[in-house]
Amino acid sequence: MIIEKIKPMVIKLCGDPEHRWWRLHIESVVKYSKLFAKKMNADEEILEVSAWLHDIQKIKGNRKLHHVNGAKEAEKILMKFGYPEDKIKQVKHCILTHSSDKNYPPESKEAIILHNADSLSHFDNSMPFAHWVYGLDKLSIENGRNVLIDKYKRDWNKLTLPEARKIAKPKYDAIKIVLKK
Ligand SMILES: [Fe+2]
Ligand SMILES: [Fe+2]
Repeated sequence: MIIEKIKPMVIKLCGDPEHRWWRLHIESVVKYSKLFAKKMNADEEILEVSAWLHDIQKIKGNRKLHHVNGAKEAEKILMKFGYPEDKIKQVKHCILTHSSDKNYPPESKEAIILHNADSLSHFDNSMPFAHWVYGLDKLSIENGRNVLIDKYKRDWNKLTLPEARKIAKPKYDAIKIVLKK
C-alpha cells in the first residue's frame, strides 16, 4: 500500500522538534479528508495520499509557492514508488489547489475536499499560528493579532462545504472572541 510508504517518510520529516506540530496538522488534514471522502463518496486513497504530502515543501521550510513545488515533489516521490500515472495526476491536482491561491482553484471532488480539510484543521490547532506571528515573525501584539484575524477569515472563506463550516463554526466563534480587540 502506498500509504505505508509515504506515511513514515512524512512522519520522519516532522520528527525534528522544531517541526513536531506539523504532524498534528497533517494528521488532522488526513482525518478530515477521509471523513469527507466517505461522506461524499470520493476517492479515499487519492485523498489520503494527497493529505500526507500536501505540505511537504512547507515542512521542509519552503513556504513560497509550496503548493506548486509540493505538487512537483509529490510527483517525484510517487513515481519513485511506482504509483500509477493517472493517480499521480489526481494527487498533483489536489496538492496544487489546496492553498488559497486563486490561480489554482480546486476542480475535482477530491481537491475540493482537501482544500476544505486543510482549512478545517487550522481551527483545531491554533497555537502554531500564534507561534508563527509572535515567536518566528516577532510581530507586535497588535500586528500579530491582525495577522491572525485575517488568517482565520481566509480559512473560514476557504470552507465551501456546508458540513465543514458546521464543524468549524463553534471553533471560529471562540477564536474570534479570543482575538477580539
Ligand atoms: Fe499548505
Ligand atoms: Fe496544510
